[in-house]
Amino acid sequence: MQLGVCYYPEQWPAEGWAEDARRMRELGIAWVRIGEFAWSEIEPEPGRLEWGWLDRAIATLHGEGLKVVLGTPTATPPKWLVDAHPEILAVDEHGRPRGFGSRRHYCFASPVYRELSARIVTVMAQRYGQHPAVAAWQTDNEYGCHDTVLSYSPAARLGFRRWLAQRYGSVEALNAAWGTVFWSQRYRHFDEVDAPVGTVTEANPAHRLDYRRYCSDEVVAYNRMQVAILRAQSPGRPIAHNYMGFFTEFDHHAVARDLDIASWDSYPLGFTQDRAGLADDEKRRWLRTGHPDIPAFHHDLYRGMNGGRWWVMEQQPGPVNWAPWNPAPADGMVRLWTWQAFAHGAEVVSYFRWRQAPFAQEQMHAGLNRPDRALDQGGREAAQVAQELQQIATKTHLRGLRVQAPVALLFDYASHWIGQIQPQGADYSVIHECFRAYGALRGLGLDVDVLPPDADLAGHALIVLPALLHADDALAARLAAGTAQIVVGPRGGSKTAQLSIPDTLPPGPLAALLGLKVTRVESLPPGIVEPAAGLAQPLPLMRWRERVEPAGAVAEACYADGEPALLRHGRARYLAGCPDVDGWRAVFERAAADAGLSTQRLPDALRVSRVGSLTVACNLADEPQTWQPTGAAGALLGGPTIPPHGVAVWQTAPAG
Ligand code: GAL
Repeated sequence: MQLGVCYYPEQWPAEGWAEDARRMRELGIAWVRIGEFAWSEIEPEPGRLEWGWLDRAIATLHGEGLKVVLGTPTATPPKWLVDAHPEILAVDEHGRPRGFGSRRHYCFASPVYRELSARIVTVMAQRYGQHPAVAAWQTDNEYGCHDTVLSYSPAARLGFRRWLAQRYGSVEALNAAWGTVFWSQRYRHFDEVDAPVGTVTEANPAHRLDYRRYCSDEVVAYNRMQVAILRAQSPGRPIAHNYMGFFTEFDHHAVARDLDIASWDSYPLGFTQDRAGLADDEKRRWLRTGHPDIPAFHHDLYRGMNGGRWWVMEQQPGPVNWAPWNPAPADGMVRLWTWQAFAHGAEVVSYFRWRQAPFAQEQMHAGLNRPDRALDQGGREAAQVAQELQQIATKTHLRGLRVQAPVALLFDYASHWIGQIQPQGADYSVIHECFRAYGALRGLGLDVDVLPPDADLAGHALIVLPALLHADDALAARLAAGTAQIVVGPRGGSKTAQLSIPDTLPPGPLAALLGLKVTRVESLPPGIVEPAAGLAQPLPLMRWRERVEPAGAVAEACYADGEPALLRHGRARYLAGCPDVDGWRAVFERAAADAGLSTQRLPDALRVSRVGSLTVACNLADEPQTWQPTGAAGALLGGPTIPPHGVAVWQTAPAG
């Protein structure tokens, strides 16, 4: 459990670096991420490499004992590069190249950019790969941010055709897989296939899904190119990339396979306002704290990517600049978010950024320090966490603590893309359905692993598939062979890998496990609620409703007209409609009881997590709340009366 900070020495006069580094150390910072946007400072003209400033910046940080995460600067190709090679620019769906003057303007599919990136990464890794201060790498920055995974450049079109030829072997196979007999879409050669944009009405869904897969594979290949160079030049240093919140444009599980650490950038207030699909009253409710489950959901998602090694690479330190509205965190929240990340197993929480920049795009974005160099609220709270970590470290050990979650929630990117391509109901979103289910589990005090469908599920007593639109035979077989309780949400297994309806109808490969067939579906506009009865709690269903033909499954709750809404077949349950968070909770209470897991209904502003031998409680309410783990002795931090926006930590098991 260590703290870090993102720092841009190139943005500040060099005379101030030593003081910055000293103050970082004094504050309790161990890691400093630098470099990720510095290409034009490193190479101001083609081939002219200016290492002097970066040598000095790294030496200054090293002098204070700080460890450096060095970012490769490829998110910001310089002006001279773009002018010399305009073909590296990403192209939007209207055929317009994306302009220079912000960042992420490159196309992942561009072979020219791949080569130029390889060159800058190589020289950087050659220079610093063995430097004693450089203890980790970050590839690029936030792949896909600002809508940049899908590009429609000529290079992408060619790449897509090659990718299709490899996937299908023959154009006849592609025609069959996409169903091009529909609307006269048949292709004679792979060379006839374009990107699925610019069509009069919706393009073929299988075509769109393959384009999503292709563009995702380009991100994987681009990252892999960087990783190969870094591994060769800088052996033994872990490599991370910083992912985002509610960001689904590429398959993060596939990118992660090449990395050592999954990291992500946590901006809870911004995400609450514009990414979580929350209702307006919820946005108001969590204005200054952020929704309690937004950071946690991503912590648990990214923890599932690299065998448990994960960081927060950028932690919101104060108001940000990019959401529609940018409230300030309530006092205490920066500390709370930091502890919450540790409670979910983070190795490092690194704040974005050391000091607010008074110029350029992010001048309204807070840092740990104000532009006048004085410590800001976020900085004070970071310092407090650093002291608390030190204190606790004298009583127990804080290294290598693991989360042992009894619940697995399965999420995959392809299912999300299928849901986006054919939502069928305007507000349907796979990741939001997963987030609601996740919130219900957390509201019962359960620790959750968010995992891909091919993960090892052996240790989980309860496995939840809130919206796994495509499930394959292998998953069905593994679920059938296990002993866990299983809950499947509506639309589970409803599409083949090629985005068609399975021959046997939904839930496709999950039919034997669930003992049912879905014979009709409908989507419902906001405000329409179909209540189901049969559980101890009411089960209101909305957005989506299915008619189900049981084949062995029995109804545990029914719609008002008697049709089954929640069905059970042995260890498995199926929901024939979308619940809200409370509805999910009613279902999970049953499933958890059957799994032998004890649950506790927590207030919505109180969350509890276990990591290693520690139990951590976070109070997001504006008033104190009382909670403590059963049988806990004295707390390591705080106590059972947890102040507003406060945290308490207990040792609940012998330190391992
Ligand atoms: C992240 C990005 C940072 C900075 C930050 C502002 O998305 O990686 O460079 O822009 O947002 O919140």
